[in-house]
Amino acid sequence: MTAPTFNPFDPAFRADPHPFYDALREHDPVHISLGGLVVLTRYSDVATVLRSNDYSRDIEKSGKPTDDPIRTRMRQRRRNTSKSILNLDPPDHTRLRRLVSKSFTPSAIESLRPMVQRFVDDALDKAEQRVRSGGTFELIDDVAFPVPFLVISAMLGMPTSRADELREWSQVITRTLEPTVGLADLEEADAAFAGLLPFLDETISERRRNPGDDMLSSLISAEESGDKLTADELVTFVVLLYIAGHETTVNLIGNSMLALLRAPDQLQYARDNGLGSNAVDELLRFDGPVQHTVRVPLVPVQFQVGDRVVEVAPGERVLTSLGAASHDPSVFENPHQLDLRRANANKHLGFAAGIHYCLGSALAKLEAQVAIERLLARFSRVELADEPSWRDRLTIRGVDRLALAVER
Ligand code: HEM
Repeated sequence: MTAPTFNPFDPAFRADPHPFYDALREHDPVHISLGGLVVLTRYSDVATVLRSNDYSRDIEKSGKPTDDPIRTRMRQRRRNTSKSILNLDPPDHTRLRRLVSKSFTPSAIESLRPMVQRFVDDALDKAEQRVRSGGTFELIDDVAFPVPFLVISAMLGMPTSRADELREWSQVITRTLEPTVGLADLEEADAAFAGLLPFLDETISERRRNPGDDMLSSLISAEESGDKLTADELVTFVVLLYIAGHETTVNLIGNSMLALLRAPDQLQYARDNGLGSNAVDELLRFDGPVQHTVRVPLVPVQFQVGDRVVEVAPGERVLTSLGAASHDPSVFENPHQLDLRRANANKHLGFAAGIHYCLGSALAKLEAQVAIERLLARFSRVELADEPSWRDRLTIRGVDRLALAVER
């Protein structure tokens, strides 16, 4: 057998990473990649690392000196802005997370259901009209992108008049989350920030003068009531929400629809029973939009592999593969089979675990559930019109286009 490798650049990996994840999990579960990352693929290791206080989410804590111009430039960019909640460790993380969590509780999110339904139905109306006049229905552009964008804009009370630019900016900025980021990407991202930040500043100033009943106004009041949330932290958080709300949920809707279309019995089950919370968890487990995340050990750590102990030094970069962990056969029976009735689907790690567990999980699940249920309720026939192509991304997994053939 050739030694298993972690090479997410390989087109075969992109189309289906699971054979690669399986080989690593079985033969080399604590794998040192060519780039020097420690790649973890077993559920128990990934969950333990994500829940441990011995690791930081802040890759600045990676002790590796670098003369790589890209890493240096990334560092400079990060130093110029306030750190996002995603990259903070306690106690700063605890303070910020407490301030922002109340807008994301399950009951706050459930109250958004009628609005999400309205946005989905409007998007489906437009798509259906286009199909009637001879056009095609393309799920990503027609539904999966506009719905999360409209929802997060409404939650924040942000104008939607510049939707096209915001979409472009957010795509350019998320590219910098990729391990393959290049100098040209960083330059484009700087240009995107140069467009986005004045737009946010303008909206925030306006909301300061005229507070409303929206999340942005409540974040502003947290900022104004002392040193709890700084002006910079506010802007950084809003940028993260735009990004988190776009790219990930878009791909949850796309990946989930594709998974259902490829498993007709499960599609029928969804038609007959709707998509409950457990079914959406199974879709996240099966093909989640976020494939991995990185942690940096703060102290020496160890992993047991058979009778061997692998030591990892502080400052190394540990890549926890959420996609591999969510298909670990020691936790999920027949892991490569989509089973909307799976009893332990909610153990998936698609939203990570521990203190950085996705803040928007309830929102993302609601949007995917409503989008897919309404689509299936409207059309008695939904089929793939074309083979999908996978986006050129490694951290975020999703299809570019999903053309559907539909009939009432
Ligand atoms: C299917 C859609 C989504 C997926 C798969 C997803 C996944 C994740 C993951 C894996 C993390 C943890 C990253 C890490 O530990 O390194 C995370 C964190 C986060 N997510 Fe999501 N996310 C989704 C949608 C959303 C939405 C809709 C929002 C908000 C509008 C959101 C807001 C956040 C925030 C604020 C964090 C940082 C939490 C913290 O650091 O405490 N996410 N998400």
